[in-house]
Amino acid sequence: MKEKIQKAFAEKFGGEGILFVSPGRFNLIGEHTDYNGGFVFPGAIDKLIMADIRPNGTDKCHIFSIDIDESVTFGLNEEDAPSQQWARYIFGVCREVIKRGGKVEGFDAVFAGNVPLGAGLSSSAALESCFAFAINDLFNDNKFPKMELAKIGQSTEHNYCGVNCGIMDQFASVHGKKDHLMRLDCRSGEFEYFPFQLDGYRLVLVDSRVKHELVDSPYNKRRESCERVARTLGVETLRDADMDMLNAAKDQISDEDYRRAKYVIEEKQRVLDVCEALLRHDYDKVGDRMYRTHAGLSKDYEVSCEELDFLNDIARECGVTGSRIMGGGFGGCTVNLVADDKYDTFVATVLSRFNEKYGHEPNIYPVIVSDGSRRYEDQ
Ligand code: GLA
Repeated sequence: MKEKIQKAFAEKFGGEGILFVSPGRFNLIGEHTDYNGGFVFPGAIDKLIMADIRPNGTDKCHIFSIDIDESVTFGLNEEDAPSQQWARYIFGVCREVIKRGGKVEGFDAVFAGNVPLGAGLSSSAALESCFAFAINDLFNDNKFPKMELAKIGQSTEHNYCGVNCGIMDQFASVHGKKDHLMRLDCRSGEFEYFPFQLDGYRLVLVDSRVKHELVDSPYNKRRESCERVARTLGVETLRDADMDMLNAAKDQISDEDYRRAKYVIEEKQRVLDVCEALLRHDYDKVGDRMYRTHAGLSKDYEVSCEELDFLNDIARECGVTGSRIMGGGFGGCTVNLVADDKYDTFVATVLSRFNEKYGHEPNIYPVIVSDGSRRYEDQ
């Protein structure tokens, strides 16, 4: 990928820029909890966006996307917003840096990536984080702390892309650390690195290839439900609610909102259970919570789809220790915790059974927990 990008840069702009990378993420548990002030437990993965960037001394940005095979030029004022979705992620990052008093000048850039699009692996967060990191480095002496870079990406989604997402994806992309998961408390912003090593087990993502698109998806509606319930309960976010409070207010809440909030409250505890179980190498407990999360996301939060439920059923049939929908839902991947001796049979079974039913094989991505945003030369 590096050679391809540098070659395209030389052809388009002459010479070379500075290479930056930023990864996609997976999440072991803690789904739809981030915008509710809860906990998440993600890690960065080995699939990433790479960009070659060089300031050009003007007030215009010229950007070429290798994968989409398209060039875009934009200025840095609000009215210069490009219409192409992929370019809005980069434009949004520039604008959010400027809004925070940071400096952005014109630059030339070429980028490409291998984070599968629409698979729930946060390709958009990887793109935002890559440019946020680069702009901080090239124009701002790295004055913005990493968490602020994550917030710049998140605000880009809110203000330029129409997704009212939480902080998890951008946080994980920026802060990722090889062989470590991160437990983030989304209310306080505090986080801890957990050494991540599985004894006798593997994690694997199974991508249904049902395209998940959070823009215009019911994602924002889920968030609205949670906020409505929090208001009814008189708490800032559902982090501060428990099942007793929810049950006491049941007749003031629609059945649908009740189920959404119930899922979120239960998921909060599951993340803590998994972190603790992981430290004790109690993989059965980790897996049990993953299955429960899947059931909650499917029945109460209703962000699953037929294909994802089917993948979950096959995992159970194959004796997979834990399996669940990962990320926002509505398509994309399941994450599966599989004992070494069951791995090959599970992968072979899931490929053939899914193909039989839906006419195409799912993609299989073993999870390799990797580093976060950085200058490429730093590795
Ligand atoms: C998407 C959002 C995240 C998070 C997850 C669900 O990936 O971008 O902020 O809410 O969905 O956990």
